[in-house]
Amino acid sequence: MTAPARPSAASRNGSPQDSATRSSAELIRAEAPVLAHNYHPLPVVVARAEGVWVEDVEGRRYLDMLAGYSALNFGHRHPALIEAAHRQLDQVTLTSRAFHHDRLAGFAEELAALTGLDMVLPMNTGAEAVESGIKVARKWAYDVKGVAPDQATIVVAADNFHGRTTTLVSFSTDPTARAGYGPYTPGFRVVPYNDLAALEAAVDETTAAVLIEPIQGEAGVVIPDDGYLTGVRELTRRAGCLFIADEIQSGLGRTGRTLAVEHESVVPDVLLLGKALGGGIVPVSAVVARREVLEVLHPGEHGSTFGGNPLAAAVGSAVIGLLSTGEFQRRAAELGEVLRTGLDGLVGKGVTGFRARGLWAGADVDPALGTGREISERLLREGVLVKDTHGSTIRLAPPLTITEDELSASIDALGRVLND
Ligand SMILES: Cc1ncc(COP(=O)(O)O)c(C=O)c1O
Repeated sequence: MTAPARPSAASRNGSPQDSATRSSAELIRAEAPVLAHNYHPLPVVVARAEGVWVEDVEGRRYLDMLAGYSALNFGHRHPALIEAAHRQLDQVTLTSRAFHHDRLAGFAEELAALTGLDMVLPMNTGAEAVESGIKVARKWAYDVKGVAPDQATIVVAADNFHGRTTTLVSFSTDPTARAGYGPYTPGFRVVPYNDLAALEAAVDETTAAVLIEPIQGEAGVVIPDDGYLTGVRELTRRAGCLFIADEIQSGLGRTGRTLAVEHESVVPDVLLLGKALGGGIVPVSAVVARREVLEVLHPGEHGSTFGGNPLAAAVGSAVIGLLSTGEFQRRAAELGEVLRTGLDGLVGKGVTGFRARGLWAGADVDPALGTGREISERLLREGVLVKDTHGSTIRLAPPLTITEDELSASIDALGRVLND
């Protein structure tokens, strides 16, 4: 694959000592005795990155078709985001919420305006945003809906992925994510995804909220039938419970709209955002909700030392600035057609099926040709970074800044590794 110009001298000067003295193989070997083995990364050691390209310790270049699981929607080190971060680093980086700071009001105003909701609860990681959304929904159920103490339930979907905390894995249906971490948090009911009848049967007067991903990312980019999100909206409104949309992976431009729920013109009561909100620079997440919901929180009832810190707020504001132009949503929609057409051409030629929306696809590869992991390793050798999920699905989620030529080249590379 042809690579454009190398990263600037400035970026190369910042390379850590390690990458000057230890090879990729040595660095990979050095991790094993000192790092927990909770990941199984592909054998590439990234030392520098710019835009859609990353470079390893030896200077080999790769097209990043994973984009940090959508944390890098604007590519690596987008100039506007890096500039915002640099500017803020020179002002103030952390105050805690014991004091006000001059970046927080603007960030919250902009995020509320972007999403069409009223109030923001800033947190850091995606899992924290989901945890916070669950706490807020339970409190709303007791304070506003009048559910009996400790009886609130939350209905979730099978094959969900909402993060790794003890409560979140309590309602995971993935045995690898869940086993060994009990006792589990009670109060969750799991129904099949994309099944309105099952949802209706599970919701009752104890239900605080229905929590779903508008598109299930980790499950393999599973897109519900048209009408499902509208159905969830109508059902939750009728039942008098909240609709919480976890858009931590699907949101902020990835699907060709700012939010995936916009594909059905649905507005949830509570929106969970993360990943791309931090511009690939710092962890930034948020619970964004209607006033009536977030108003249940009073001083001391929830918090985070780092949530909404000045650096996070400055980067978050810059991310919202990029999204406000509409350019990234438009690119995702237009290039999404190129991705779809490309994958369509591979069906029957190594790909058994795929699901795609915007610049986001899950392609199922013929298990006879190799596991998802093996295909990912072959693509790595072709200079393309992807990651498998659930055995034989390859997830494609490039930065929204990718060019049509780069996208086509990566699909061609997938075709080659499946057919050579
Ligand atoms: C839909 C969804 N929710 C929550 C999370 C958890 O985010 P984090 O890894 O930042 O805790 C993820 C991460 O992949 C996700 O895809």
